Amino acid sequence: MTQTDVLTDRPTFKALQPLADQLANASVEQLFATDPDRASKYSAEAAGLHLDYSKHLLDDTALAALLALATEVNLPACAAALLGGELINNTEHRPALHTLLRANAASGLDNLYEEVTSTRERMCYWADRLNAGEQTGFSDQVITDVVNIGIGGSDLGPRLVTEALRPFQGDIACHYVANVDPADLHDTLAALNPHTTLFIICSKSFKTQETLTNGLAARDWLLRAGANDTQLARHFLAMTTNLEAAAAFGIAPEHCLPLWDWVGGRYSVWSAVGLSCAIAVGWTNFEAFLDGARDMDEHFVSTPPERNLPMLLSLLELWYSNTMGAGNHVVLPYDNSLQRLPDFLQQLTMESNGKRVTHSGIEVTYQTGPVLWGSAGTMGQHSFHQLLHQGTRLCPADFILPLRTHTGMEEQHTQLVANCLAQSRAMMVGRTLEEATQALQQRGLGDDAATSLAPHLAMPGNRPNSTISFDSVNPTTLGALLALYEHRTYCSGQLWGVNPFDQWGVELGKEIGVQIHDELNGKGGDTAMDPSTRALISRWRQAKH
Ligand code: F6P
Repeated sequence: MTQTDVLTDRPTFKALQPLADQLANASVEQLFATDPDRASKYSAEAAGLHLDYSKHLLDDTALAALLALATEVNLPACAAALLGGELINNTEHRPALHTLLRANAASGLDNLYEEVTSTRERMCYWADRLNAGEQTGFSDQVITDVVNIGIGGSDLGPRLVTEALRPFQGDIACHYVANVDPADLHDTLAALNPHTTLFIICSKSFKTQETLTNGLAARDWLLRAGANDTQLARHFLAMTTNLEAAAAFGIAPEHCLPLWDWVGGRYSVWSAVGLSCAIAVGWTNFEAFLDGARDMDEHFVSTPPERNLPMLLSLLELWYSNTMGAGNHVVLPYDNSLQRLPDFLQQLTMESNGKRVTHSGIEVTYQTGPVLWGSAGTMGQHSFHQLLHQGTRLCPADFILPLRTHTGMEEQHTQLVANCLAQSRAMMVGRTLEEATQALQQRGLGDDAATSLAPHLAMPGNRPNSTISFDSVNPTTLGALLALYEHRTYCSGQLWGVNPFDQWGVELGKEIGVQIHDELNGKGGDTAMDPSTRALISRWRQAKH
């Protein structure tokens, strides 16, 4: 086994390119024809999720070669290192222990697990208390609405889970404010009553400008409505590692729930960051969400790569990114409640693997984290699917397909499922020039007209896609689905040799943001600005005055 963390130095990686070249123009339909077992052979199941990856540009030889890479990188040992609490976040000298947040045993991490379980108890206390109508505001009215103020990992996960589990929603309505654009807070508060609204200031660092600015504005809103400084405490909870800063903000210690530096923001929905979801859907449902994720963790750490869902998805990500030049990945949930999933996955995958040096600091010469995008089906079909079917880019796709709806509107749901399966199949089979010509002739076009229009209707097909199906969107399947993508992201980081748990790239923009904010407020020192930025600052000044 080699010691390198550079993907392109790995012998098993070097073996992939010739296989990819052979398969890049293969017919997946033909692969099905030659292997009648392909659909069942190229599928795997775990934690209530079924993965069909049979519509990929893949054959047994290529799959074996990818699995050899998994062995060389030793993905099973990587999984064990993650769950075992090893210091895998090497640039910050920390473990990444999001799996402990949903564990039901300490597994040797006794002290940390004790903190996790005592925080769970406090989360349960607040979820129950709010749902029982026991928390009152400054005028003794019962709290009916909770606003989570946070951004990035302190927003996207809880927002997604709350929206996805709306059928499980209790009496408290949870709202989310993230953007420093005042319109976000302003528009949210417009529909709320200050007497009955509680804010959760959710910030791992308690230093994030957007969150603190919105938190202060929320405090002003309550003061303007008649709350005094002492009564404000009833309206705020804080989720943070920075308990001193939360105290300085004025949040009572018993209203502060801890986080730990060993949980990355984008992996933190399972922690106190998820309190707003636990309030929205109740503690029992939140526990079921943790259970679903734990099932996926157990699968991840105990299943060989050839049947391991996160490992297979990660190998596919590498296959297209690094041998076939795909720079993107599209995620298409066919369930409206999952419409925020692409947003969540964008942070998860792009903040994790948007890196350019390996663990050991070597600059890579290959693609790492692809651009992730997508939207809920069927909306995307009437927007960007044209590019998926006929565009010139390779866009590997994940279809996410819950098989049942909570709405009771069965026929309409059948239409949704039909659309999902049709898109997946259409991407694979495409339409040849001859088929297009024949179809036009059948529509009554003459030979010449049909021949000249046919190239516009022809579709290459062989557009690779996976389908992840499961019973329905519920707390356990949702937990499993998010954990699946977390582990896929981690495995991809290991294959590329990068650290998926730091995010140094976000720092510079924040620093320059502070300088420019000073400049806009007339407090700019001698900070040198480029001519473009200077000109834009003067345009802003002219517009303001
Ligand atoms: O700027 C990026 C980031 O640090 C994310 O990694 C994080 O999820 C987000 O900002 C919010 O950070 P915090 O929870 O510390 O406010």
